[in-house]
Amino acid sequence: MAQQVQGVVAPGKNEPVRVETIVVPDPGPGEAVVKVQACGVCHTDLHYKQGGINDDFPFLLGHEAAGVVESVGEGVTDVAPGDFVILNWRAVCGNCRACLRGRPQYCFNTHNAAQKMTLTDGTELSPALGIGAFAEKTLVAAGQCTKVDPSVSPAVAGLLGCGVMAGIGAAINTGQVGRGDSVAVIGCGGVGDAAIVGARLAGAARIIAVDIDDRKLETAKSMGATHTVNSRSTDPVEAIRELTGGFGADVVIEAVGRPETYKQAFYARDLAGTVVLVGVPTPEMTLELPLIDVFGRGGSLKSSWYGDCLPSRDFPMLIDLHQQGRIDLGAFVTETIGLGDVEKAFARMHEGDVLRSVVVF
Ligand code: APR
Ligand code: ZN
Ligand code: ZN
Repeated sequence: MAQQVQGVVAPGKNEPVRVETIVVPDPGPGEAVVKVQACGVCHTDLHYKQGGINDDFPFLLGHEAAGVVESVGEGVTDVAPGDFVILNWRAVCGNCRACLRGRPQYCFNTHNAAQKMTLTDGTELSPALGIGAFAEKTLVAAGQCTKVDPSVSPAVAGLLGCGVMAGIGAAINTGQVGRGDSVAVIGCGGVGDAAIVGARLAGAARIIAVDIDDRKLETAKSMGATHTVNSRSTDPVEAIRELTGGFGADVVIEAVGRPETYKQAFYARDLAGTVVLVGVPTPEMTLELPLIDVFGRGGSLKSSWYGDCLPSRDFPMLIDLHQQGRIDLGAFVTETIGLGDVEKAFARMHEGDVLRSVVVF
């Protein structure tokens, strides 16, 4: 029996979001219905609302979520009703070239539920990143569910579903930060702060936080930054060089997504260092660099998609580390809110007041 629940819908470009009754079908083959317990508000939800991702309105927003599996469809064996899960937006296929070569983190043949959730008049909803979890219940592909220790707070667990995983993964997976490395993180919002947590976890000796906002630099310190640079008043490339004995950082993580910060990241690394690009640029942005600098510096430029994470490997590990007190994912939850507060949370995000507002049910 299909069920009716409440969910946050973006009806059209730049229109305010609304809490609507939505219809969630029973799970079909390979699908699961999840009772959502918490879902963080991410920039990508705002981009959907603004029409910046595509025009497939109406959207069912929310994609940074944790909850309990309520029911599963035919053929689902990895998760069962009652399991506490974190949802991921990259359920790997297992059959593409990347998967078959043992690199499922680069799978671009990912899948979502085949059936659609709808409004009560039958209008099909497009779930944000194939999830749609600002809803009491949501329908996903079973492969989007990763089972983790149920004793963790759902508000904390859900964060690993997107931004926090992207940041931690940028450091530990893409950047391969090692013990004793110097790491610079440009842009200290939720993603950059998570990169700082990842760098610290990996044993970085120096972690240099760069931002244009002193409030963000204070938070970055509490996350594990050893040095801070306000790039409004100080040239960050020079400052990073100075703080690393004149060399530049072994790993520079860019978590803004703008040409000038991409350029800073490029020049702030040590010769043969690694630049990790996790900030998402807009399609019209370009960057001009002298080729001799690209050629002459060695090292690598890497882009980091979802922190190159493997949910089945990384989610349980990070929850474990959090439960042991070795990382504090709770520090990313600025406030918990209700389903009706998502529009307000977008405004606070825009003001730069929050790391994460998390809807709890
Ligand atoms: N130099 C340094 N820092 C900057 C600059 C700049 N020129 N411009 C903005 N920032 C800082 C902001 O002050 C803020 O602290 O970058 C940070 C961006 O943080 P958020 O807006 O909270 O964004 P976040 O969720 O962390 O995502 C960052 O990563 O995954 C991507 O799409 C995401 O592109 C976005 C980026
Ligand atoms: Zn694949
Ligand atoms: Zn997100």
